[in-house]
Amino acid sequence: MSAIAWRRQLSIGQPSIDEDHKHLIEYLNQLDECLTARVYLPTRVAKTLMKLLEYTKEHFAREEKIMEVVHYPKIDDHKRQHREAVRAISALSETFAREPTHANAEKIYTFTADWLVHHIIMQDTQLAPYVRGVWFG
Ligand SMILES: [Fe+2]
Repeated sequence: MSAIAWRRQLSIGQPSIDEDHKHLIEYLNQLDECLTARVYLPTRVAKTLMKLLEYTKEHFAREEKIMEVVHYPKIDDHKRQHREAVRAISALSETFAREPTHANAEKIYTFTADWLVHHIIMQDTQLAPYVRGVWFG
């Protein structure tokens, strides 16, 4: 495992979405820290996980609102991907809640980190021409 670094490739060019993505990466890096710490503390993982899940849902709602405002043509497919990610991360979190092992926490980190980076690069960047330079209050 390794921490995720923000890079230009991840930028959509829309300040509020980019800021949200930076925060998400920050939470993921906090989870990574929990997993690489000398002492493994399941309660620390659980707290970080709760923040990550909560923020992910809030972010998806904000991003979807923006897609609606700009009439993004692929909104339905994009929303479906968000829903599937929430379902998958929630399922992994439930497994962790039942069995708070390091391995189960690692599964959440690996899945979410891979999914997020892939989703930003492959999907969110497609939003760029619709939202670049536009400010949403
Ligand atoms: Fe998205």
